Amino acid sequence: MDPARILVVGATGYTGSLVARELAAGDAPFVLAGRDPRKLERLAASLSGASTTVVDVTRPDTLKRLLRSGDVVVSCAGPFLELGEPVVRACVEAGAHYMDTTGEQRFMKQVVERWDGPAREVGVTVVNAMAFEYALGDAAAELAALGLARPLRLVELIYGWRGGAAATSRGTRASILRILAAPGLAYRNGTWVPERAARRRTVLELPDGSRRPAITLPTGEIVTVPRHMEVREVRGWAVTGGPTARAAALLSPALPHLVRWLLPLLDRWARGGAPGPTRAQRESGEFEIVARATGGEGGTRTVAVRGRDPYGLTAAIIVAGAGRLAGRDGASGSRPPAGVQPPVRLLPPADLRALLDDRGLRWDTL
Ligand SMILES: NC(=O)c1ccc[n+]([C@@H]2O[C@H](COP(=O)([O-])OP(=O)(O)OC[C@H]3O[C@@H](n4cnc5c(N)ncnc54)[C@H](OP(=O)(O)O)[C@@H]3O)[C@@H](O)[C@H]2O)c1
Repeated sequence: MDPARILVVGATGYTGSLVARELAAGDAPFVLAGRDPRKLERLAASLSGASTTVVDVTRPDTLKRLLRSGDVVVSCAGPFLELGEPVVRACVEAGAHYMDTTGEQRFMKQVVERWDGPAREVGVTVVNAMAFEYALGDAAAELAALGLARPLRLVELIYGWRGGAAATSRGTRASILRILAAPGLAYRNGTWVPERAARRRTVLELPDGSRRPAITLPTGEIVTVPRHMEVREVRGWAVTGGPTARAAALLSPALPHLVRWLLPLLDRWARGGAPGPTRAQRESGEFEIVARATGGEGGTRTVAVRGRDPYGLTAAIIVAGAGRLAGRDGASGSRPPAGVQPPVRLLPPADLRALLDDRGLRWDTL
């Protein structure tokens, strides 16, 4: 039997190219897929001649005919609310496993609702957000919840960025606009309910003892965490400056309409400029992801993950996940079951930490 191949869709993009470089440093067979043959050629040449193939996800047959049962598709072609679903469909129909770098919560919920059943039926694994957002937060939440009584009262995910760690690529900016335009989701009383970004603002006490303004954010863990632990409420927060928090909360009711109305204009801004931050920029600041869990009988545990270079980490995380799905990391026995799975089911916290050991991440339990 041929070994499972890893096929990178959207390989010519900012994140896809980092994923391609990460794969080129390993020994798994991989194919770079994109819609522009010249860009593919240039990328392959920079990687000493990787295999390439032309795929346009708006014409899913161009993908489906390439796929073999057991292949692993890594999709970096976003925005996912626009481009993501045909790739998931092609994978499930061809019997190929699927992973992506999406940060779009609504897309993640849509994939669970539409594709969990079909993926289970054909025996393929689908994992959204195998990326900086939200594999680290999903793992941190699992660690924070250890030993607490279930159902948990609350799990909170708090995102903070300093300096270059907040720098975004064109694709990320385009996806953020879709996140703001779509009605977000909160998880309360054991169910998902619509809630727009910045619906609430507060002042949070952070692990270093500082008190910082924050606004609610429709993060992906709101979709993933209730799928791997019993919990009544999951909240996502972004730490911001005070004026930003006040302005965002004030604009929040109008934000989805405003973004939808101005989308062509905002998209031009999002897709302008450099494709993404330079490596030096990415490494010039620090992010912090705090997961705080409160047990059913009280008691709170906090796990903080700190590091640099969210895009470099994304490439490392998704390539590690692809290796496991392709059965190449010597741990095929722990391959997750079929269906749409949260990131922790593919890479449990201990494995994720071990695989990212050399990436300068710090995990602290408080
Ligand atoms: N969750 C996280 O932490 C995280 C981290 C990194 C990235 N992301 C997400 O990953 C996505 C990609 O980001 P990026 O910065 O790499 O964006 P990007 O540079 O704009 O790349 C997008 C890629 O999609 C390809 N594409 C667009 N339309 C296509 C089509 N019809 N058929 C095939 N390919 C198509 C583009 O091809 P061309 O090169 O031909 O334009 C490009 O390769 C975004 O949604 C971003 O939010 C998330």
